[in-house]
Amino acid sequence: MLNEQLVSYSGVQPSGNLTIGNYLGAIKNFSLYSEKYKTFYCVVDEHAITVRQIPADLRRRTYETLALYVACGLDPEKNTLYVQSHVHEHAELAWILNCFTGFGELSRMTQFKDKSTKHADNINAGLFTYPTLMAADILLYQTDVVPVGIDQKQHVELCRDIAERFNQVYPGSFTVPEPIISKSGMKIMSLADPTKKMSKSDENTNAVVYILDDKDTIIRKFKRAVTDSDTCVRFAEGKDGINNLITIYSCFTGKTIEDIEREFDGKGYGDFKLAVGEACADALAPVQTKFKELTADKTYLESLMKKGAEEASYYARRTLGKIQKKLGFVKI
Ligand code: TYM
Repeated sequence: MLNEQLVSYSGVQPSGNLTIGNYLGAIKNFSLYSEKYKTFYCVVDEHAITVRQIPADLRRRTYETLALYVACGLDPEKNTLYVQSHVHEHAELAWILNCFTGFGELSRMTQFKDKSTKHADNINAGLFTYPTLMAADILLYQTDVVPVGIDQKQHVELCRDIAERFNQVYPGSFTVPEPIISKSGMKIMSLADPTKKMSKSDENTNAVVYILDDKDTIIRKFKRAVTDSDTCVRFAEGKDGINNLITIYSCFTGKTIEDIEREFDGKGYGDFKLAVGEACADALAPVQTKFKELTADKTYLESLMKKGAEEASYYARRTLGKIQKKLGFVKI
């Protein structure tokens, strides 16, 4: 809590073009908190460099991710939208939290294990301590809720453990946050391999629908989506591909699984895939229009970055100062 107000905090890495997984699992849900919570949504560029980035791409995607926040409905007047590297307190608190986090805890993180397999030539210390920087992001703002997809649940749980451990030694330091995972869009799967999460870093671009894909591309990708040899549109065990498409259709249209099964009763997969593609493209069209407008005005985006960094810094400074004092650091 900050000033008696509940806080919602989340972040997205500008490490690739954002997907409908990022949208349905996270960004779309961020605005649910704008009215009643104090909200901070961050573009986490420091996390992104745990994997090698091309500087020009990272810079462009940082602007684009901020623009997407706004295009997806986050009003910069009601939400603090900012870039992680603009608030130096994140890296400073991360160091402190590293000293309260076990080697064993970090070794158990599935994202670390996955990424070390994928980037075997670059298993750097940043990749290993990624979750303590994420804990610093969250704890600096005395966060109550963290809306994320299910893949980030383990990191938020570790953040809770770190906060509780720290509070035991230094009472009253941090609010202990709760992960909030939306029931429907928590794990959107790859269109090429529906047992795998849809990921912005997937090399097979046909497996992934990007928020900025045009209508024809979206429809083409859904048409090619891997399904099964059955022909009946119903949500059932062993039908991962169809289950994923039903989930996506449900998220974009607000229809329940039962409604969808009824709507496509007697129709084939071809009709269903076309309907999913159209619903997705129609829902994303206004986001894309707004995104184009915003990215044409770099000065405006920079003014948002500056305003967000100032707002976030105020609270980050306050928490870090309090923690440094508790630890016994000398203030001059
Ligand atoms: P990132 O950039 O990988 O993903 C951003 C958000 O999108 C969600 N997500 C998905 N949800 C459903 N289905 C999918 N296929 C899918 N793919 C991604 C993620 O769960 C996430 O919520 N570590 C975080 C970024 C971060 C952060 C934070 C989040 C840094 N600091 C503090 C919350 C609070 C990450 O890698 O997200």
